[in-house]
Amino acid sequence: MKTAVLISGRGSNMQALVKASQTDGYPADIVRVISNEPTASGLDFAARARIGTDVVNHREFDRRESFEDVLHERLVAAEVELVCLAGFMRLLTEHFVSRWFDRILNIHPSLLPAYKGLQTHERVIEDGVRFTGCTIHFVRPAMDSGPIICQAAVPVLQDDTADVLATRVLEAEHRCYPYALSLVASGKTSIVDEKVAIDGVTELGNVLVNPPDGPA
Ligand code: GRF
Repeated sequence: MKTAVLISGRGSNMQALVKASQTDGYPADIVRVISNEPTASGLDFAARARIGTDVVNHREFDRRESFEDVLHERLVAAEVELVCLAGFMRLLTEHFVSRWFDRILNIHPSLLPAYKGLQTHERVIEDGVRFTGCTIHFVRPAMDSGPIICQAAVPVLQDDTADVLATRVLEAEHRCYPYALSLVASGKTSIVDEKVAIDGVTELGNVLVNPPDGPA
């Protein structure tokens, strides 16, 4: 499935998707990397990987919808079928989301619906929760909302700073996003009543407890 990745910065999740897409039998092909930030360092990686890159600088538009129209045109021109947001720091409105309904994925560094928005790791530490994680979901117009495809739980440790926790969560992001994209691109997901059903998943896998000497 022809897939575009939208970034705003370093694009480490985009890199994880690109690397996965280069493995045998992976069902998605990353055909475009688009940034709203002209200086995003992720663009260099994409160019080195011989993936077509584009910049659509949001500052050149006075309305969000005009920015989204150009984004849409670029995606259509590249014959894109699926869009992955990966550290893409612009909110997409109904105008764009309705045109790509059920064809946009996003990754967020928390266990949604908890901790939507920015500064997730700071707020997680402040609240003293034992687990956080990451979520890959289909995009709806409201920020960080939409049917959830995959989540990974990541323990919060006693002495974590936001940076240390962000690094631990990012490792989970890099494992989960390629997995979630493969589920969607291979047609294993369906959305029923705004919940994602996944073909062939019936078993209970790992269950985590933190502190680690808690009940199994
Ligand atoms: C990731 O933590 C992602 O979940 C969040 O922003 C960060 C982007 O990192 N939305 P990168 O650009 O993929 O390296």
